[in-house]
Amino acid sequence: MITDLQVNKPEPIVSGEITELFKRGTDVQHAIEVLEAGNPILITEFYNNGLSLLQELHAHLRKKIPNSSFQEQRVYRSEYRKLSNLVLVQIVNHKLEVKKSPSIGWLEKLYPETSDFLLSFPQVQGLNSAWQWYQNGISIPVLRNKIHPYYGTYFPTRFEHLVLFDNWLKRYNGTKKSAIDVGIGSGVLSLQMIKYGFQKVFGTDTNPNAIIGLAEFMGDTKLSRKIELDFGDLFGKWEKQTELIVFNPPWLPESQDLDSIDEAIYYNKKLFPDFFEGAKQRLLPEGKLVLIFSNLAQITNMSKEHPIEKELAEGGRFQLERCLKKSVKAASEKTKRDQHWRSSEEVELWVLTHT
Ligand SMILES: C[S@@+](CC[C@H](N)C(=O)[O-])C[C@H]1O[C@@H](n2cnc3c(N)ncnc32)[C@H](O)[C@@H]1O
Repeated sequence: MITDLQVNKPEPIVSGEITELFKRGTDVQHAIEVLEAGNPILITEFYNNGLSLLQELHAHLRKKIPNSSFQEQRVYRSEYRKLSNLVLVQIVNHKLEVKKSPSIGWLEKLYPETSDFLLSFPQVQGLNSAWQWYQNGISIPVLRNKIHPYYGTYFPTRFEHLVLFDNWLKRYNGTKKSAIDVGIGSGVLSLQMIKYGFQKVFGTDTNPNAIIGLAEFMGDTKLSRKIELDFGDLFGKWEKQTELIVFNPPWLPESQDLDSIDEAIYYNKKLFPDFFEGAKQRLLPEGKLVLIFSNLAQITNMSKEHPIEKELAEGGRFQLERCLKKSVKAASEKTKRDQHWRSSEEVELWVLTHT
């Protein structure tokens, strides 16, 4: 049952006296030493004080750690994450205690039973942006209505792959009784399929927030009768064969560092073999298997292997019908310097059929 799912949220810190405080006028050098020694600091008086301390922390780390290649950026981020997570802020009565704070509805929605607790400042920043996205919604070029991504759920920030899928759906002339959307996220691919007349979509996700969020978003509307959800690995409880299976999987192979725990971004060794095995059983004889991918891992030298090419070469289960590619718009001038690898990035839409 979807209502029994445990939502992922930042773990509230409920006890512990914090002796180090930070406000305007506090010695920044001292504060950074406290953090580097592994001790927490509580932000007091104004929300802005937290922003200043994090800015100072960035300035401090920029002097210490190079931050240009993709790998260097990851080291930098992990050091920043470690220290910034020691910067704490108090929540009282589901609200941030410091003055001039944004109001963040998640503090009430995600913590109905705990009104007073501590969170780290970056967690609060994450909750704050997630609240803006959720409340204001995000326009997606291929969809008429905005999506309202739930806290902790993946949503697209670039749309080239959605345009590829949209163009493909436009020309698709097979039957449209049902489809499976593996890793449904905030539901964009399912919504595209519904837009093109699919009668039923079965979606799964291993992230409870994706399932909880979509269930809430659809409520009791017509949409909720068209999209059925299951919290589960790969195909979850869906056993029936469908004419279309889509999967926009994580695009990067996981590595040992802390950065790679996000299941929306990093895949483990078993994911693709298990997916193709499950898809083989659930795709109707004339059905299409559509995967969205990118050359990001290859152009950043994280992997020489392409999991879809590998399946086609060695799996013996599927053959290639077509592969459409689209280059990703170059980053803006400001970010281009650090992200030169982005310039050759391409998204890919793979259409496979049974061998
Ligand atoms: C890149 S996101 C794509 C989300 C959405 N389909 C879209 O295109 O915007 C990948 C999604 O797959 C989910 N996921 C990762 N591994 C999974 C697995 N083994 N089974 C089901 N879902 C998985 C993630 O939680 C995430 O929501």
